[in-house]
Amino acid sequence: MRPKCIMFEDEGAVNLENVYLKKDLLGIRGLTPEEICFILAEAAEMREKIDNNEKTSCLLENISVATLFYENSTRTKLSFTKAAKYLGAKVTDLGISTSSVNKGESLLDTGKNLEAFGVDVFIIRHGFTGAAEYLAKNVSATVINGGDGINEHPTQALLDFFTMQREFSSFRGLNAAILGDINHSRVARSNLFGLTELGANVKLIAPSTLVSKDFENLGSVKVSYDIADIKGADVVMCLRMQRERQSFIPLPDLEEYTDMFGITKEVIEKYAPNALIMHPGPVNRGVELSADTINMPNSVIYEQAKNGVAVRMALLKILTENLKRGAKE
Ligand code: CP
Repeated sequence: MRPKCIMFEDEGAVNLENVYLKKDLLGIRGLTPEEICFILAEAAEMREKIDNNEKTSCLLENISVATLFYENSTRTKLSFTKAAKYLGAKVTDLGISTSSVNKGESLLDTGKNLEAFGVDVFIIRHGFTGAAEYLAKNVSATVINGGDGINEHPTQALLDFFTMQREFSSFRGLNAAILGDINHSRVARSNLFGLTELGANVKLIAPSTLVSKDFENLGSVKVSYDIADIKGADVVMCLRMQRERQSFIPLPDLEEYTDMFGITKEVIEKYAPNALIMHPGPVNRGVELSADTINMPNSVIYEQAKNGVAVRMALLKILTENLKRGAKE
């Protein structure tokens, strides 16, 4: 029997059968708390297997996975590769820089050709918002969004929720502060959609040029321009300054950002000494996060990376089961 998943501590544990029945995972927006909780419960089983060194299986023995990373990645690409190999799948990486994408081949033609080779699951990262959804609508294979433009990074958010859940059990009333380049961050968006759905309170803290007040329309979300507002946070999540997505320079200089919004050991000790410190990576050391903060006892940054493998194993298992059952979208 599936282990119980505690979603809301005050409501007790709920038992979940497979409530996520789609062929793809394109975003967190629109997922129900039950769907998120079901994925986290499956990830807990995978994490246990990793911890007990029982991670290898032949669950995906006849499954072919292709990684299509049109943007750089270390964590997402390698953890998906590891996750798929642990479960016995065959993994092919389309090295974009040496592929026919450089001769102008479209995403659609690339996807259709790889599908003709027998690819069952695409993991895609692309600089354009909607690229994963576009591919998913045009192939029968499963598509997992590894990050699209400034839209969503759902598997990152799921591993973040999983990391939080292991520390706090319940999301209801959890206070999460997210700092950094919110406007350009798909990680922030996916976390926001999920955390508000799960009953957490979210504070977005950044200079006014990097966070839109419109985010407050999403529910239990507050926008602040003052780092002192991390006070009372259970989770402090720092995000990378994404120069590659900023169409203009929204800050006079990075030093000024670091002085006013950088998370240091002193800032954590002063305002939120018990908060979990999170960062999706890659970290700009000394910009949004000081090196000594990364090594604080309440930092779970490397735990997030480890949990990424478990969450991605869970997703591969769930989605390929859905695909085999004939899920069309
Ligand atoms: N967090 C994250 O997406 O890291 P990568 O860019 O290294 O995949």
